[in-house]
Parts: sequence; structure tokens; C-alpha cells
Amino acid sequence: MGYKEIYRRYRQQILDGRLKPGERVPAIRVLASELQVARKTVEAAYEILTGEGYFVSQGAKGTHVNPDLQLPSVASVATSELILAPSPPSSESKGELRLGIPALDAFPHKKWLLLAGKIARSLRPEEMVVPPVMGYQPLREAIANYLNISRGLNCKPGQIFITNGYRANLQLILSVLAQPNDKVVFEDPGYFLGQRLLKHIAPSLHYVPVDQQGMDIDYLQRNHADARFAIVTPTHQSPLAVSLSLPRKHQLLEWAQQNNSWVIEDDYDGEFHYTRKVTPALKSLDIHERVIYTGTFSKTIMPAMRIGYLVMPLATVGRFSELGQILETGLPLLPQKILAQFINEGHFYRHLKKMRILYQQRRRMMLDAIQFMFPDLFEFELTGGGMHIVAFLKCDRQDTALAELWRKHELCVLPLSGWYAQQPKRYGLVIGYTNIQSVEQAQAILQRVAEKTRCLFSDPGGMGIPTQ
Ligand SMILES: Cc1ncc(COP(=O)(O)O)c(C=O)c1O
Repeated sequence: MGYKEIYRRYRQQILDGRLKPGERVPAIRVLASELQVARKTVEAAYEILTGEGYFVSQGAKGTHVNPDLQLPSVASVATSELILAPSPPSSESKGELRLGIPALDAFPHKKWLLLAGKIARSLRPEEMVVPPVMGYQPLREAIANYLNISRGLNCKPGQIFITNGYRANLQLILSVLAQPNDKVVFEDPGYFLGQRLLKHIAPSLHYVPVDQQGMDIDYLQRNHADARFAIVTPTHQSPLAVSLSLPRKHQLLEWAQQNNSWVIEDDYDGEFHYTRKVTPALKSLDIHERVIYTGTFSKTIMPAMRIGYLVMPLATVGRFSELGQILETGLPLLPQKILAQFINEGHFYRHLKKMRILYQQRRRMMLDAIQFMFPDLFEFELTGGGMHIVAFLKCDRQDTALAELWRKHELCVLPLSGWYAQQPKRYGLVIGYTNIQSVEQAQAILQRVAEKTRCLFSDPGGMGIPTQ
């Protein structure tokens, strides 16, 4: 490599905004050794970059990108275009009222960091080799205990397969148990990321409508009795948050048993139920072992940790284990060890208890704020739990335009109609409330869009939006 190439690469990095003014660049000697070129070659490139004003040499402090460099903001133009372009909802969207993010202010960070430090320091050399494919054994034990006690299951640690979350769970299950053209049914409306993934990996994908009692099992039996997989969110339907009624739970299990089909239970936020009536998992009723239970720590700990799991029916453990060795690598050990300790020392249970109370309060705050700001625009069908609310539009269908408008103001809500695959659809906004700390804060957030929302529906005053 010659000096011109080194010069060109640095210049490009700076112009693209990847190297920022003030950032230090490697010493000539270090870069020469890294690129295996003579020091003179790097020196020549650095001299030109300095001569052109991209670099400044600061003696013993090394060479830096010129801190006074003023560049046309290529990166920021690109970013703002990205935000403004109507983009499909993504799990990486930023903003307030985001769906499914735990209360970040209420997580016991200190405790977590203390454990993390202790565990990182105690990692033994033999633990640095390869992690177990199905998960760190003490974590599998902790999860099995938790599910048996809190979610009414009756599983053994050997049935737990630790994964990096929902999508990994679905892919693994279908890889292990499905034939290429097996019929898969999904709820309508249903989790948009699930739908998107299944459109890629399940060629025969069909939908079953959801009503106040959850998935319509009569419809399933009438139209898709031959399905091999039914993917459901029985505790809090995603997104309507209704619970699958007990008669339908039994009907679904009976159908699965008679057809030798599998029910994939997605219990993503089953921990957060607020009524006195506990809602045990569907899996707790599964005497014939037709349910593959899936869970996640994204709602109870943090999504960035990327730890989820599935409970393999006993008869399938061999198949999962065999294919797991081919398809999977096991998750990084360190976060699994920290989590296992967090559960085993009782912090997890304490945290859940606190969050159940907090989320109930925050849900009330959010509802009060919406009703105050938009008294006639939305209506609610309050359910027993969940980490989001659905604000149904009372008499309008423009939820996509409304959500887009709110998202432009960093209110990261989703249009309900976008979660539907077929007609009839319902219209409204899916709103996360878990990080709302007061009614006033919620009102201040909504105030950012009050005026424009009124304009969108071009009925000034008609929806009773306060003008304050
Ligand atoms: C319906 C549903 N299932 C599962 C998950 C969990 O996803 P993951 O474990 O990949 O974070 C979520 C998260 O938002 C969800 O909304």
C-alpha cells in the first residue's frame, strides 16, 4: 500500500464523518506496523493530511483530526433524511412512548453492575473456551425454577434452551420441527416483527383473527385445521393485550393434540399482569406436551442483553440438542452468569414485584394524560396487563398518518392498522407507557403534537383538544 491510499482512506473517513474533529489518529510507527508498510509511507500520507488541514500534530500528545475542521454535514443530512422518510417500524426506532421497553429509571443498575464486576473478575480460564450451546447450566436451572413457580409450568432445566430472543426462538423451533411447507398460523393483528420474519421463513403463512377473547379458535378449526404450527400470545395478545379465554385455551390445546400440531406460546410480558386474577401460562395446562413455551428477559431486565429462551417439550429435547449443535454457538457466558446470579440472589423477583406496581401506576398516568389532552379522539378497552396501551381512534382511520406525525416529534408510537395482515382492521395507536414518570410529563410529551394532531383531523376544537 502506498502513501496515496493511506491519505485517501483517512480523507474519506473524515469527510464521511466517521472520524470526528479532535479525534486522535494512531502514531506513525503504530500504523506502519499495523499496515506493514515503511514508516516513511505513513509519514508522507500524514504530511499531506496535515498540509491540507485535515490533521494537526500536537507534539507529545500525538496527531489528531483538526478540531477546528468545518465540514458540510453529510452524515447529519443523511440521518435526517432517514428519520423523515416513511420507514417501516423497526425495533431500533428512537423516541419516547416506545413499545416494550422496561422502565429504565427503575432498574437496579448498581446491584447489576456490582454483580457484573464480581463475576467478570472471577471468570476462570476454562470458562473462556466455548459456551454451552443450550445455555449456562445454572441459568437454565434458575429459569426452570422461575417458570415453575411464577408461570405455573412443570419443566426441568434440561428442557430450557437459551437463545438471544424471540426471532432466534422462532427460527430454531421451525428449523428443528417444521417441514419446508408446513402451514403456520399467526394472530391477526399480530406482532409486526414476528410477521415480518415469518414471511421470510414460513412459505405457508396464514392468519387467524383475534377478538376480545384472543385468537378465534373456531376460525382456526374451520379454515386452518391442518396447520402444523400456531403462534400465539395467550397472556397478553400482541398488540391488543387481551388474554386468551380459558375455554379457548382448552380448545386450542385439544386441536393441537388431535392434529399433532405445535402451539408456540410467546409469553413475552406475562409477568406484568395487574389484576388479582393471575394468568398462568397456556403451557401450564399442556398435559399432552404440544406447547413450545418461549420467553424473554427483554421486558423484565433489558432488551439489549439479548437473552431469551424456549422450553422444549420432553419428546423433542433430543432433536433440539442435535440440531442445536449444528445451528447454534451458545450465548456469551458472562451475561448469562450475571443473570443467573441476579435471579438466584432474589433480585429478579424483587424487581418484578416493584415493576408490577410501578407499571400499573404509569399506565394510569398515561391514560389520564391522553384523556386530558385528547378527550374525544380515542377510546380504550382496558385489559388486565401488558406494557403498552392501545388508543383506538373513535371515528377515524388515519392511524398511519397520525403515527407518522407523532414519530416526527419523537413520540415513537405505532399505527394499530399496520399490525393487521387482512381485513377487517381496527385503527389506533400502540403506545408504550413504561418510562412515563408523571401525568405532567406525559402531558408535556403529548403537547408537542396536540396542535398538529388537531390540524390532521381538520376539525378545530371538534375533538376537544385543549389549546393551552
Ligand atoms: C410480541 C412480542 N414477542 C416477543 C418479544 C421479545 O422479543 P426479544 O426477546 O427478541 O427481545 C417482544 C418484544 O417486543 C414482543 O413484543
